[in-house]
Amino acid sequence: MLKDFISVSQLNEDRFFQIYQLYKDFKEKYNNGDKKLSDLRGYSVLLPFFENSTRTRTSFELAGKILGADTINISGSTSSVKKGETLYDTIKTLEAMRSDFIVIRHYMSGAAHIVANKVKSRVINAGDGMHEHPSQAVLDAITILEKKGKIEGLKVVIVGDILHSRVARSDIKLLSMLGAKITLCAPQTMLPRHLEPFEVEDITTDINEGLKGKDVAIFLRIQLERQNKVFFSTLNEYSIKYGLNQERVNLLKEDAIIMHPGPVNRGVEIQSELVYGDRSVILDQVETGLFTRMAIYKYLLTA
Ligand code: CP
Repeated sequence: MLKDFISVSQLNEDRFFQIYQLYKDFKEKYNNGDKKLSDLRGYSVLLPFFENSTRTRTSFELAGKILGADTINISGSTSSVKKGETLYDTIKTLEAMRSDFIVIRHYMSGAAHIVANKVKSRVINAGDGMHEHPSQAVLDAITILEKKGKIEGLKVVIVGDILHSRVARSDIKLLSMLGAKITLCAPQTMLPRHLEPFEVEDITTDINEGLKGKDVAIFLRIQLERQNKVFFSTLNEYSIKYGLNQERVNLLKEDAIIMHPGPVNRGVEIQSELVYGDRSVILDQVETGLFTRMAIYKYLLTA
């Protein structure tokens, strides 16, 4: 039984496919016009976010509302944290309000785990520092599954700021567990120093090598807010060396898909006209995120 969802390490293949089945059920109901369900009626979902978010916060909130929960956003910048209240006291306060779910995003790696150990509420990690973003990995895996019909054996390249990316850490773990062959592609300065924990096939600093013959290319945002030193000369130089342009798209397999967790730095990671180009599934990832998050709530209630 899972009380919380903190890391993709909590998933095995069975659990992932149980969540996928719930995803499919909810999506089918929604597409058939069932836009107000009662799976979470009577439950409260509190969403303390200590970092900015558009996709994750909105989709967790909307997913909760569609399932009938009462949802409340708590923004770090307008909460009593600004008056000096600690994370521990903030979370115990939310628990005292009988929160059933706490969906937390925090800039500190490990924050969601610490919170989960302190409260009875079910805790969902909506991104903790450079550690993990497990619901993003699940929605990425489901997007790949829906677009390619399988994950096992697919060649997936993850390009960009791997060092600072919680999405990369969660994606690598989940997609390799599901049988994908992962290549990491980044400037040397943006690769984690210790790569042993990562199950990857290949690591390259050469973008052309990285993209050649891949089924899936996941581009990562350059996380300027987490970079406390210089990792490349200029954004323009990064774009020239690692940005996706049409010439580089042609290196991928003919039916390859292009992904990005968002938000995109247009013209840096991906040339602007390719962001929603015919190979891009970036908006499909967003749509998948809504039903994935409905499935995660339900899974935690029933698993
Ligand atoms: N992918 C993602 O986490 O986006 P947001 O920061 O907008 O939630």
